[in-house]
Amino acid sequence: MIGGGYVGLVSGTCFAEFGTDVAIVETNPDRLTALREGRIPIYEPGLDRLVEENVEAGRLTFGDDIAAAVKGADAVFVAVGTPSRRGDGQADTSYVYAAVEQIARVADGYTVIVTKSTVPVGTGREIARIIRKTRPDLDFDVASNPEFLREGNAIQDFMRPDRVIIGTDQYKPEGTERAQNILRKLYRPLYLLETPIVFTGLETAELIKYSANSFLAMKITFINEISDLCEKVGANVNDVARSIGLDGRIGKKFLHPSPGFGGSCFPKDTRALTAIGRNAGSPVRLIETTVAVNEQRMKDMGERVIAFAGGDVSGLTIGVLGLTFKPETDDMREAASIPVLDMLDKGGAKIRAFDPAGMTTARPVLPKSVTYCTDALDAAKGADILVVMTEWNEFRSLAPEKLAAEMKGRKIADLRNIWDPKAIKDAGFDYISLGRPDAVQPHQA
Ligand code: NAI
Repeated sequence: MIGGGYVGLVSGTCFAEFGTDVAIVETNPDRLTALREGRIPIYEPGLDRLVEENVEAGRLTFGDDIAAAVKGADAVFVAVGTPSRRGDGQADTSYVYAAVEQIARVADGYTVIVTKSTVPVGTGREIARIIRKTRPDLDFDVASNPEFLREGNAIQDFMRPDRVIIGTDQYKPEGTERAQNILRKLYRPLYLLETPIVFTGLETAELIKYSANSFLAMKITFINEISDLCEKVGANVNDVARSIGLDGRIGKKFLHPSPGFGGSCFPKDTRALTAIGRNAGSPVRLIETTVAVNEQRMKDMGERVIAFAGGDVSGLTIGVLGLTFKPETDDMREAASIPVLDMLDKGGAKIRAFDPAGMTTARPVLPKSVTYCTDALDAAKGADILVVMTEWNEFRSLAPEKLAAEMKGRKIADLRNIWDPKAIKDAGFDYISLGRPDAVQPHQA
């Protein structure tokens, strides 16, 4: 497994749990040292125990020697990052191709090279070309096995997936069968669970991953726009979302209004799909719009908080609950808190922030002036306004009276709808949330 980040570490550990010998190669020295010392460099519930058990059982090892890991391997997975390229939004595949060249140089015997990273359509074929050029003698096949795990629920998602996608070269039937057999063996425990395993061509597998993520991002963006509309017409977005979600064709998940989708996948994958569509001469206009609406939404949320403060936040103390792009992760990549806190900081506010898992990852990406607090009540201390950015469960149970006792002002901007408007208003707060007209919304007055 090349790459020991969120996906490589979880997938590698879970394959080991399935009974396979796994060597994870990680080049980031801090991450590698942590892993070798039995510390998990990312926040992922349950992962520490699973890593420990599999290391103890001798099925899981960590190192930076790619040759040692690849030699004798039946399959080599590439799980390195594919971030957005600056400018055109295309996925940056340079880490993938660099890893593939390294693999090609040291592989021996028949090897399946599998992309676990999310890669643009055509990457698998380019990988095959690179390998043929680097090692004309190597007996290999290329496969695409995109990963659908969610941070925060990654182990469960990997062990009990809705489906597994295995793409192999449709123009090379012999190779396809060999590669499929190896991957089938790896995923054998899932056959017992009757998990659908979909065998497709390379390009199809690559496109499935982008289509899935873009669809979900579009669903989030849809409810965000409906949420805004609810505020204008006096409707309640929670009731709208619940009611449309009860229709099995729509489904109730991913219909929660928010300050916009962030994270390591949706923003970059939606941008990448629009680039793939444009380059192929078949623009995916719904997703182009989704990207634009979402970027605007994060700015709108900053404006909303400033308007709620009376149009000027300079000199005000703003407490912020939650920083990560969603709960149960320490991932700050493209979190909505980044643009929102940036606007508040530029507006001259003093920001006191707390996040249960993201304090370390937040520091490098948030304004320097942010004060990091020990807990939610500490973040509320002396605050004129409290802003909820991430819906961590522990915030839901905070008693409004306790918040009131810490705060100087009485304003709460709940950008995740974690609280009941009535309970908060009864405690004497001015309260705004998303798409719920029963909350006090003085910014519209
Ligand atoms: P990450 O940045 O956490 O991990 C990538 C790791 O690969 C880093 O630790 C890096 O040091 C290491 N690396 C890079 N080049 C290397 C090399 N040549 N040899 C050894 N190690 C190397 O990224 P993450 O989040 O794990 O994502 C990886 C891929 O999986 C991306 O394409 C992403 O889109 C996809 N993905 C991510 C999901 C997530 O929830 N994070 C879910 C599904 C897919």
